[in-house]
Amino acid sequence: MDEATLDHAVRLLRKGQLVAFPTETVYGLGADARNDRAVAAIYEKKRRPSQHPLIVHLSDGGKLTDWAHSSPMAERLAQRFWPGPLTLVLSKREDVSRVVTGGRETIGLRVPKHPVALGLLRRFGGAIAAPSANRFGSVSPTHREHVLAEFGSEAPLVLEGGSCEVGLESTIVGLAEGTPQLLRPGGISREALEAELGCALSVPQDGVVRAPGSHPVHYSPNAEVRLVPPERLHAECVRLATKPISVGVLLPMPGGRGGAELNIETVATFAGVVLGGVRSPEDYARQLYDNLRAFDRHGCQVVLTTLPEPIGIGLAVADRLTRAAAKG
Ligand code: TXA
Ligand code: MG
Repeated sequence: MDEATLDHAVRLLRKGQLVAFPTETVYGLGADARNDRAVAAIYEKKRRPSQHPLIVHLSDGGKLTDWAHSSPMAERLAQRFWPGPLTLVLSKREDVSRVVTGGRETIGLRVPKHPVALGLLRRFGGAIAAPSANRFGSVSPTHREHVLAEFGSEAPLVLEGGSCEVGLESTIVGLAEGTPQLLRPGGISREALEAELGCALSVPQDGVVRAPGSHPVHYSPNAEVRLVPPERLHAECVRLATKPISVGVLLPMPGGRGGAELNIETVATFAGVVLGGVRSPEDYARQLYDNLRAFDRHGCQVVLTTLPEPIGIGLAVADRLTRAAAKG
């Protein structure tokens, strides 16, 4: 990233304007976190309800106490996982505006790892409030082109940072109440967090994790996503091949159930578009949103896929696919 572009971005932020930037998870739509009018402009551009809290991005963990009351658990997780794809929800300091917290007494904080995000934060000197840079409810952007396509002629300055390494949003851990809670699975696995904390995270029983303000229907492409049990995926492809609809298949995540009997060649004889054939769960997660967008570009009406086992990055993939398949 050249210095002149970064300086330009910083000037825009200081003026209260929005700048989209890459992080290692997804691209964010940023504003000066201390400027209520700038923060309000994020909600407007995303068409996001104003009670949905935003994540405040910091250049380093030392700034945590400018925004929130810390705790031994917060210190520990910040030490271990920042910079990185982890958001901590803590009690906010009294002087922090409720505009950025969606009216809550808690605040989500994260130090991102992407060099462009860190470069921007350091040069700006302050904190940047940023949700994912997509319209409310749609698929998060993992490439600069996705952000430009999402906002069209209303696109802000979008800094280039290549494709996002993790490709799914940060894990959100709630530490403002007694037991630590997993509010959204993401780039840092539940297992890694529990190992670091030495205790279990509380997770909602129904399997769909809910950060406040997050909606069961989210991350949705235009195509209808249908979740099929792994052993039924092949037969369902064959059945749909006889119908006058354009079908896409997102292959199962590698290394888990349901992958063995399917391969691109056999499925491709039944479905028009087959994506997701990668070697590792990490590659699968990295390409998930890009693939969901690609099904739309190909004009698929139905996308068949299957949920991975909810372990490691599979928990976050299963969460996003469940929401992508939910009906509003
Ligand atoms: O990876 C990410 O987290 C990306 C990049 C840009 O950092 N950001 C992102 O932001 O995914 P967004 O706005 O799309 O999702 C933020 C989530 C929402 O589900 C919101 O409910 C939760 O964070 N959140 C933020 N502050 C919170 C708070 N005080 N309490 C509970 N949940 C909070
Ligand atoms: Mg989002």
